[in-house]
Amino acid sequence: MVSRVIPVDPFDLVIFGGTGDLARRKILPGLFRRFCAGQMPEGSQIIGAARSEMDDAEYRRMVSDAVAEFGGGRTCEAGTLEAFLDAVSYVTTDAKGDGGWVELNGKMRDSTVRAFYFSVAPSLFGDLAERLHRFGLATPESRIVVEKPFGHDLESARALNAALAQHFHETQIYRIDHYLGKETVQNLMAVRFGNMLFEPLWNAQYVDHIQITVAETVGVGGRGGYYDKSGAMRDMVQNHLMQLLCLIAMEPPAKFEPDAVRDEKLKVIRALEPVDWHHIVRGQYGADENGPSYREDVEDPKSRTESFIAMKCHISNWRWAGTPFYLRTGKRLKARASEIAVVFKDAPHSIFGADAGRHRNVLAIRLQPNEGMTLDVTIKEPGPGGMRLVDVPLDMSFADALGPDAEEVPDAYERLIMDVIRGNQTLFMRGDEVEAAWAWTDPLIAGWQARNDVPKTYDPGSSGPEDALMLMHRDGRKWREVKA
Ligand code: BG6
Repeated sequence: MVSRVIPVDPFDLVIFGGTGDLARRKILPGLFRRFCAGQMPEGSQIIGAARSEMDDAEYRRMVSDAVAEFGGGRTCEAGTLEAFLDAVSYVTTDAKGDGGWVELNGKMRDSTVRAFYFSVAPSLFGDLAERLHRFGLATPESRIVVEKPFGHDLESARALNAALAQHFHETQIYRIDHYLGKETVQNLMAVRFGNMLFEPLWNAQYVDHIQITVAETVGVGGRGGYYDKSGAMRDMVQNHLMQLLCLIAMEPPAKFEPDAVRDEKLKVIRALEPVDWHHIVRGQYGADENGPSYREDVEDPKSRTESFIAMKCHISNWRWAGTPFYLRTGKRLKARASEIAVVFKDAPHSIFGADAGRHRNVLAIRLQPNEGMTLDVTIKEPGPGGMRLVDVPLDMSFADALGPDAEEVPDAYERLIMDVIRGNQTLFMRGDEVEAAWAWTDPLIAGWQARNDVPKTYDPGSSGPEDALMLMHRDGRKWREVKA
């Protein structure tokens, strides 16, 4: 039932930062899986580019190890890895100097799609963009792919956009938010705009509130240096949760086309109200037998960076006025579980009387793991003796619905890289979208910094700080349980 593989044109893909963590964990194994699926056309090449001195053979060994470690255990025909590695080469390249660029240019071919993946620190984006032009690698059809973090505030994001815009047109820039590449995230659009059932009810008149949860069990691990300067707000909310919110809240675009979709997302971000500081809860995980505390992880006993955040947001437009959106995300929580729940209002009048209790329809979309959808429907509790009501789920697991093919579903990076080659920007963030997201985020961060806000400590393995529960309780609502 999984869609057939749609062929793409032969391509030259240069991965700057080709020896880095992201390349090893995601980009290279993802490309290998596409190769196995027959989607990497003959004549395509992957060129790793980084500062380390390495020859092709050494780089191929690194790629082969990365595929073995992070390839997800996919079984391919014998000889496939060798054939894939034949398409891989390496050029030692200096992003800030002239070394390697002429050689890199020599490898580019005129007849293929050119894509340059900037899997490097954002401080190098401008240097790479400039050199791609100066050394003649960039053509009007070339694409560049940039990773998050796209800046750390509005000013730095504007500077990055301006640096890239000096050398590339917006239609050539692919800003990755890997959440947009997740199968179930795209399903949000299919569910909303492919069915008649939900859209008429998708507004403040029928929806009581919406909850978006992205819970992780991992701590910040070895990423403490980066994370402590970001925190959950910059690392997760400004991008991933914001994108989920946009897809849930946006108006139907006229077409499933890049600018039509991105225009609608942008309107949602611009309609987000500033969040009252009483409606933000920040937390830091403590220590337990399974691991150190957040402050120990980042080696700063006084750190005030949040590893958890919960907030209540409002969107000021006709569709959503008065309907709160509760967002929460955090590390070292009870379970790895991401979910969006649309909680509908009570029926306007209960014909069954007060004893029947309060019942609500909830549409929950599980993004990961166990991707699927549940719709809580109220029915009669079986048995004699009056009318008692009970909520039961209509539960659909996408894996069950798709059968054994489900494991063939490409992961976010595979899909997004292929979209770059196809030249489809629908699942990538536009420059104005990123800036609008920072424009909303910046004053919230400035607000807690000015108040010297100290995050609340929470128990690892819990659902976050007590105050986050209170954020909902005060409104007579409650979070759905974080469970895998
Ligand atoms: C990344 C964040 O963008 O997303 C990480 O920097 C986070 O901190 C990760 O762990 C979560 O992604 P996923 O796909 O595992 O939900």
